[in-house]
Amino acid sequence: MNHRLVAPVGITATGQCFPPRVVTNDDLSKILDTNDEWIRTRTGIRERHWVEPGTGASQLGAPALKQALENRGMKASELDLIVVATVTPDTIFPATSCRIQDMVGASNAFGFDLNAACSGFLYALTTACSLVAAGGIKKAAVVGVDIMSTIINKEDRTTAVLFGDGAGAVIVEQVEEGLGILDFEHRVDGTGACYLYMPAGGSLKPASAETVANKEHTIHQAGSEVFKNAVREMADNSRLLMDRNGFKGEDLKLFVPHQANIRIMDAAAKRLELDPARMMVNIDRYANTTTATIPTALHQAVEEKRVAKGDLVILSAFGAGFTWGSTLLRWAY
Ligand SMILES: CC(C)(COP(=O)(O)OP(=O)(O)OC[C@H]1O[C@@H](n2cnc3c(N)ncnc32)[C@H](O)[C@@H]1OP(=O)(O)O)[C@@H](O)C(=O)NCCC(=O)NCCS
Repeated sequence: MNHRLVAPVGITATGQCFPPRVVTNDDLSKILDTNDEWIRTRTGIRERHWVEPGTGASQLGAPALKQALENRGMKASELDLIVVATVTPDTIFPATSCRIQDMVGASNAFGFDLNAACSGFLYALTTACSLVAAGGIKKAAVVGVDIMSTIINKEDRTTAVLFGDGAGAVIVEQVEEGLGILDFEHRVDGTGACYLYMPAGGSLKPASAETVANKEHTIHQAGSEVFKNAVREMADNSRLLMDRNGFKGEDLKLFVPHQANIRIMDAAAKRLELDPARMMVNIDRYANTTTATIPTALHQAVEEKRVAKGDLVILSAFGAGFTWGSTLLRWAY
């Protein structure tokens, strides 16, 4: 069954923000038993951006949203809604969307945060677009922001090398008939929760001196389990969306996968029978920025004029939960 919105709604502008500090693989090899060759060949990552301590998600999310608003020529006060996808909010509460609302001056907006790990941006995009399509609101912003450097164990080489910090934002509103979101397919499988998670700091295991000493406020991951599932689900899910809408790889102008590992992305592109040049890649410069990978890759595609009005685009993600999903759209501008 297709998941169509009741009205045509799509992305009409993008923005992004990365912190200035670049951490190369060589920098990491000075503090960890790792090396540039291993990281590059196993993951595709060359460098990532990390914030200076004391920087919260809102401090990257707000500039990304301001840039998207500027690119659209829209005032912040025109926004009705801000949905922020993140696993690294400024604080557990209030929501980071509230801080971003204040920082950009979106005086007429309501907002909330949404957590679906690396699939968060796609789930937030679907949520915001559905609300706009339903007619209750006109203009919404979706921000994907994560400060992963604050939740990695910098002594664990199996995870510390994989993640970066960044933010991407998009504006969504009604677009011409036939453009915008055409279909989506999102899934959750909670049996995967044990393979990628942060054990402490929530209600199940509140913070204590012991949890901090045991580094239970950092990412715990069974890399190969995540890898296997990500390859299968991202590839199958994108393929399903293409098949049920009657499209072939050659119809696709742009494939924007979540940037977790170049080998996962290549496998998904192959399954779509896609020309590799049509896949957006920014993992080499930014690593896995969790909810920010897709909006920043989209922003880059727009800047590089790799996408134009009417082009068929597929966005696809996989993450902790497990969560995964894909969104098929015709670019609206
Ligand atoms: C993490 C990941 C890159 C590991 O790659 P891999 O090819 O599966 O490597 P393995 O885990 O099998 O480890 C192979 C060896 O490399 C070592 N290794 C792991 N990280 C290393 C690093 N940064 N530098 C050097 N060696 C490393 C391991 O300790 C292991 O050594 P051993 O054989 O002596 O035990 C890969 O599993 C992955 O990308 N998984 C998905 C992660 C992901 O996408 N997470 C986010 C989802 S949104």
